[in-house]
Amino acid sequence: MDLFEYQARDLFEKYDVPVLQGLIADTPEEAAAAAAKIGGTVVVKAQVKAGGRGKAGGVKLAHSPEEAATAAEAILQLTIKGHKVNRVMIAQGASIAKEYYFSVLLDRSNRTFLSLCSVEGGMEIEQLAVERPDALAKIAVDAIEGIDLAKAKEIALAGGFDQEIADKVAPVFVKLYEVFVKEDATLVEVNPLILSNSGEIIALDGKVSLDDNAEFRHERENLERDELDPLEAKAKEADLNYVKLDGEVGIIGNGAGLVMSTLDVVAYAGARHGGVKPANFLDIGGGASAEVMAAGLDVILGDPQVKSVFVNVFGGITACDAVANGIVGALNTLGSSASKPLVVRLDGNNVAEGRRILAEANHPLVTVVDTMDEAADKAAELANR
Ligand SMILES: Nc1ncnc2c1ncn2[C@@H]1O[C@H](COP(=O)(O)OP(=O)(O)O)[C@@H](O)[C@H]1O
Ligand SMILES: [Mg+2]
Repeated sequence: MDLFEYQARDLFEKYDVPVLQGLIADTPEEAAAAAAKIGGTVVVKAQVKAGGRGKAGGVKLAHSPEEAATAAEAILQLTIKGHKVNRVMIAQGASIAKEYYFSVLLDRSNRTFLSLCSVEGGMEIEQLAVERPDALAKIAVDAIEGIDLAKAKEIALAGGFDQEIADKVAPVFVKLYEVFVKEDATLVEVNPLILSNSGEIIALDGKVSLDDNAEFRHERENLERDELDPLEAKAKEADLNYVKLDGEVGIIGNGAGLVMSTLDVVAYAGARHGGVKPANFLDIGGGASAEVMAAGLDVILGDPQVKSVFVNVFGGITACDAVANGIVGALNTLGSSASKPLVVRLDGNNVAEGRRILAEANHPLVTVVDTMDEAADKAAELANR
């Protein structure tokens, strides 16, 4: 899970990494109030899980609460790299003498941790890595030894810092490594880490990715919940494996592999029908009961972009008759809120009985199609009407 900058800032603060005051705001009025509270010059920053906000107009200086409100109003209308801005952070303004780069991350290919460091921070690191690879130090970090003060100095010197500044930034690197380990992160990145005009080292931006597999060790569920796409949040509550995509054909299947290939055949069929695309990934897993089917359909039908739904189930342990009963039951449960055509393809265990159940129910929205390709074609055609 990636954190927003303000969440990263709060984590940093918890570990004594030097940060500046930062308050979140969802409206220009809240932005003005936050700016008044902080006082002086502030920076209004878009909170989206994407880098390069500065270049996209998502970071603006403001010298008064009024200016902060104006900046927030403009930033709250932006979409940065496909991420709509719903919230801004009002950060205390820093006087910057130098911008540095530091990160520590999981290096899967080498089965170790890796620290990246450069005295030339600020710009996007991918760009620095391409244009000036020598300016970016890459130092392996042993998981047992970690980053102590001596290692931190080694990293700083490799990144091009002079001895005096290396001594200053090293304790901050140690603390950032502590964040990385204690919070079970897979990435902690600070760009820029700055030297202020008054000689302080401060983390001005923060990007943190946490390891979802370690979530049970932490108490921070509220981090994620309110930030999810509303459909994804609803799916998560129902324990469904759902990913929202940008298309018109809703997809329900059982088993991740089958759902992935369903996305492919729908995308392929869509090319013949006005370019419609799959609207989501949804794997309802092994137990395709009426309840699970209803929860899945409910999420998919809640997506205003969806024009048709393709239910593609291969009966295994849960046989096709149970799935068919699940679909009929789900449509009964949903009643009039199920309003979009459903194309159903069933195959596998007990398929004849499953198809008989659907034929008998004769629901006006349901079309049963025998093969996956034909069903994908039908669903794409219906979505394009
Ligand atoms: N609190 C701040 N005070 C002064 N300048 C800032 C502050 N926060 C960011 N900046 C400036 O804006 C630039 C971009 O901000 P940053 O937080 O790194 O966003 P992004 O990396 O998404 O572009 C920084 O490199 C820095 O020069
Ligand atoms: Mg940055």
